[in-house]
Amino acid sequence: MLTMKDIIREGNPILREVAQEVTAPLSEEDIALGNEMLTFLKNSQDPEIAEKYGLRGGVGLAAPQLAISKRIIALLVPSNNPEKPEPLLNTVMYNPKIVSHSVQSACLADGEGCLSVDREVPGYVVRHARVTVEYTDIEGNKQKIRLKNYPAIVVQHEIDHLNGVMFYDHIASPNPFALPEDVLVLE
Ligand code: NI
Repeated sequence: MLTMKDIIREGNPILREVAQEVTAPLSEEDIALGNEMLTFLKNSQDPEIAEKYGLRGGVGLAAPQLAISKRIIALLVPSNNPEKPEPLLNTVMYNPKIVSHSVQSACLADGEGCLSVDREVPGYVVRHARVTVEYTDIEGNKQKIRLKNYPAIVVQHEIDHLNGVMFYDHIASPNPFALPEDVLVLE
């Protein structure tokens, strides 16, 4: 199983590379990797397993964070609605691509974090409020989904990793909490 020691940290140049497209049909290796990445996220959100193995909780993981420069991301975004407990996102995406997005921007009120960044970096990370993403799923089928708010932010954070972009690259300086007009701040 994957643990924190498999995850590379900022400063490693692989995190700054543009990752390679995955070839179709998906190889067994790429399918196994996608499954392992999703399992890592599940484990990281399970209090007992996370404590036992020292996992930091995560909702997304990109293959370059495992020093594998391929366009693969895993997403496990839990529901915040007890009446609809299914996760908002629970999937592996191969070659994900944002094909359209809203004019509306959004950011998380608490900023962002990353399993590859062992420090808090305060500031608003302004992204698109809604995105449409095309990708190949783990069965090799082409998919197209529309995401908004938190899941949209998470998928943009992970796709950034495929392009060598870290979340803090988006934080304004000198004032990390400066906001352009009309940005939705998600609590
Ligand atoms: Ni990250």
